[in-house]
Amino acid sequence: MANLLFSSEEHQQAANLTKTFIERYHASLADRPVFPNVDRDSIRTILEEPFPENGCSLEDLYEELETAIVPNSTHTAHSRFLPYVQPSPNAVSPYAEMVASVLNQNCNLWTLSPAANAVEQKVVRWFAGLFGFGDEAGGLITSGGSMANLIALTSARDHRLGESARTEGLQGRKSPLVLYTSEEVHSSIDKAVSVLGLGVNHLRRIPCDEHFRIRLDLLANAVIEDRETGLTPFCVVGSAGTVTTGAVDPIAELSAYCRSQNLWLHIDGAYGALTVLSDRFRESMSEIGHADSVSLDPHKFLFTSFEAGCVIVKDASILRQAFNFSPSYLAMEKDPDFIHFADYGPQLSRGFKALKVWWSLRRFGRKTYAEVIERMADLAAYMGKIADKRPEFELLAPVVFNCVCFRLPHLDDRGNEKVLKRLVENGTAFLGPASVKGRFGLRACFMNLRTGDEDVELIMDEIARLGRSIAEEPSELTPMPVP
Ligand SMILES: Cc1ncc(COP(=O)(O)O)c(C=O)c1O
Repeated sequence: MANLLFSSEEHQQAANLTKTFIERYHASLADRPVFPNVDRDSIRTILEEPFPENGCSLEDLYEELETAIVPNSTHTAHSRFLPYVQPSPNAVSPYAEMVASVLNQNCNLWTLSPAANAVEQKVVRWFAGLFGFGDEAGGLITSGGSMANLIALTSARDHRLGESARTEGLQGRKSPLVLYTSEEVHSSIDKAVSVLGLGVNHLRRIPCDEHFRIRLDLLANAVIEDRETGLTPFCVVGSAGTVTTGAVDPIAELSAYCRSQNLWLHIDGAYGALTVLSDRFRESMSEIGHADSVSLDPHKFLFTSFEAGCVIVKDASILRQAFNFSPSYLAMEKDPDFIHFADYGPQLSRGFKALKVWWSLRRFGRKTYAEVIERMADLAAYMGKIADKRPEFELLAPVVFNCVCFRLPHLDDRGNEKVLKRLVENGTAFLGPASVKGRFGLRACFMNLRTGDEDVELIMDEIARLGRSIAEEPSELTPMPVP
């Protein structure tokens, strides 16, 4: 009989193969190039694989994992993988993912997932409590910060539109809605604005001060100007950790201003909000509790595996107004202990992502997170000190968080780009590009649980060496224009 299930021997075999894979992978990480030397033949074999008519053995699957997938994967857990705001995963997450998959709870109707429903409520409440949000606050676990931003801005838009949000949408509206953010904002806000039909021409990018924080005076001027021309300002997006330099906007002042102007304040805290777990960052991050909504990413500073984001709205009834569609086939009696998560976001079927968030917090606890977060900031400070001291480097922004933007001043933008490309290609380290005040630089973002001071030293030595070698190369001639 055709069967999609395993016998207990096959389960045992799968468990053994997985255990061997995990152990081997972790033991081999340090010897692998951070960025793989991609084997195009392997990739082509994957791309050209015909649709499988018959299944294969488990050994074959794990064999292919070792020969085709792992060697062609970017090793995000490698100690010198530092390009984006992307951590190596903590140790408990893979197990939580596996358990969640076995239980296969559908986290929409509570009857399909009672315990998972309670777990998700609990982690959202824990997060809300970190910022001092009250009992009316609510939210849900999302796929990440981008989805969290989209859900928050949907709430802000629909709240402003009122009842017509659902029936008329933006169609036929005479006075377009306008949002404000700083020029350093993450592109997920642009994406949300576009998806929501607000139009990126109605997203004002307010210039920043020398610390990459939004200028409140310029924000106020822009709002006045827009009102004078008949537009409807409705929302300000602040950042708790801008994607390039990690700057934190003046949240308390933004909140006071927004309240005085009847504007929704959303804080994109995908990058930095969870540093509230550390004493060092708590004070500035706890100001987030003044906002109307916040996005945060457990798959960043909680170091869960992908995917795990979270959105919290100060008044959860606004979130429900935006997303509550109750067809008769999903009708359900209210229960004081449970939430209907389908009313909190655009998804219906949803997995049990909250388990890895819950397990991460319970297994490691706040104190461990505080130490890890501070270690990340210390590593950045150490690299920043080297960049500041050694004449081969120039810091492009103060190091205030866990990221460092710098360049080699004796090379132009193209030369710096070349250094970054070679550093990644030769497999030493994976850093990212940064554009700081229009200048190209390299950016290291410390979110890796295996990184030590010796990695920082090795990276800086290698970058300096590449810089010297590129400086000695004959400069490329600009081709003459063909007459
Ligand atoms: C400031 C900021 N906002 C939003 C995002 C998007 O988050 P995600 O990748 O989880 O969708 C990021 C990602 O790095 C970010 O740094």
